[in-house]
Amino acid sequence: MEQEMNITVNQMPRIGDTAPDFEAVTTKGPVKLSEYAKDKWIVLFSHPADFTPVCTTEMSGFATRKSEFDALNTELMGLSIDSIHAHLAWVNNVRENTGVYFDFPIIADIDMNVSKLYGMLQPNESETAAVRAVFFIDPAKKIRLIMYYPLNVGRNMDEILRALYALQVSDKQGVALPLDWNKGQLAIVPPPKTLDEMQERIDGDFDEKVDFYLVKKKLNE
Ligand code: BEZ
Repeated sequence: MEQEMNITVNQMPRIGDTAPDFEAVTTKGPVKLSEYAKDKWIVLFSHPADFTPVCTTEMSGFATRKSEFDALNTELMGLSIDSIHAHLAWVNNVRENTGVYFDFPIIADIDMNVSKLYGMLQPNESETAAVRAVFFIDPAKKIRLIMYYPLNVGRNMDEILRALYALQVSDKQGVALPLDWNKGQLAIVPPPKTLDEMQERIDGDFDEKVDFYLVKKKLNE
């Protein structure tokens, strides 16, 4: 049996934690997270390496759908354990080859500081490259959703945008969103916490009711 790597990495961040603060060099200049994108959501994502195929498709996906993130009041921020020089050359290369421009900051995390803070360095997957992580950070700088993908499987941009929108709808409307929920579909009324609330669910007129604990309603989105 293979031995597990035993490299010390920082504790993994968790949903609900304040996003660990950092200062970093990026393709758009220096960034301090706690002072960045005030009153906005941030999608912070890592990729294993510049000039690699899956990463190129993913970064191009973020770039081509940036207007959808803008519409959700969200700033994008990429990261890999590459130098700023590699980032600039890759951004330019992809623009020359495909016309797609990575018009958002990409952190040059050459000292692995941010990767370690965010549990992006998972030594049994790779000792030198960040895994494919996505952190959804809300305007209060709280981590609200985390995705980790391995090196050889690309992420799904529809799911990233769907999850971001679902988080925002859930916050604004005090609802929960069911399996595969998408814009325009019924939302779940949070299950009752008291007998009175249970009776309201039993007696109420809802758009869909399975039982008092699974009640759905239309949203004004
Ligand atoms: C890629 O983006 O294609 C890739 C990067 C690192 C390891 C494996 C694949």
